[in-house]
Amino acid sequence: MKKLDKKIRRIDTDRDKLRIKQKDSDSLKVEENVFDEPTLKNLYKLSRKNIIKEMGGAISTGKEANVFYALGPESELAVKIYRITTSTFKAMEAYITKDPRFQNIRHTKRDIVFAWTKKESQNLKRARNAGVRAPEPLGSEKNILIMEFLGEKEVPYPQLKNIALDREDAKRIFEKIVDYMQLLFTEANLIHADLSEYNIIIDPNNLEPIIIDMGQAVTQEHPNAREFLYRDVQNILRYFSRYGLKMSPEELLSKIQAK
Ligand SMILES: Nc1ncnc2c1ncn2[C@@H]1O[C@H](COP(=O)(O)OP(=O)(O)O)[C@@H](O)[C@H]1O
Ligand SMILES: [Mg+2]
Repeated sequence: MKKLDKKIRRIDTDRDKLRIKQKDSDSLKVEENVFDEPTLKNLYKLSRKNIIKEMGGAISTGKEANVFYALGPESELAVKIYRITTSTFKAMEAYITKDPRFQNIRHTKRDIVFAWTKKESQNLKRARNAGVRAPEPLGSEKNILIMEFLGEKEVPYPQLKNIALDREDAKRIFEKIVDYMQLLFTEANLIHADLSEYNIIIDPNNLEPIIIDMGQAVTQEHPNAREFLYRDVQNILRYFSRYGLKMSPEELLSKIQAK
């Protein structure tokens, strides 16, 4: 009992050090699941490195990860925290173990989640280097990825699925996404593998798309690469058909693979 008390007290002090806001019960519930002791330690490490100044509320609660708002020394941040006891861990393992970049990792749950977090950070960097607009990764620690906040004054930019567009803007955004898929494929050797209206953010200032959520992105060498690319193509065509855009998957595929 005493040991547990001590543990709780330690977590509470770590929380205080991070000045985690506990405004509503919703984000409290989230914190119970996500902010286990190792995660708190890693967050604290990031705050000692002066990457995180203050943790804010939850932006999103997903299947494998939660995204939080935070403040850095100079800018707003998004903090993506992968849960270590994630339910879809088996799927993660299949992506990771077939990726030639991650051949030497141990296959425990923790190690796979840590490798996954690193992989997302690397993929975001590769995408950006290829000219794709994606959030800038600013640091990672075990299961925590820190990135540029896509939004202003604590308000995140909308997902593509939550924004109404006229046909002209939709066409322009579609073409930009196709450009990005082509750059990802030919310049970064990456296939997003979960591309949809959920993982495309729209910058409301200029209606430009921003590609997010790249943990599962794979290189062309991955045995399922073609299948993943085809699925991405179909998702994008399905979504934009509501704006009257018509193109065959084959035509879009050849655009993406053109040098
Ligand atoms: N850098 C960011 N800035 C602002 N909001 C973000 C950022 N990254 C993610 N989000 C928000 O959080 C949601 C979930 O993030 P995502 O990376 O797609 O994780 P998941 O694996 O849970 O789908 C996104 O749909 C988006 O609304
Ligand atoms: Mg997502």
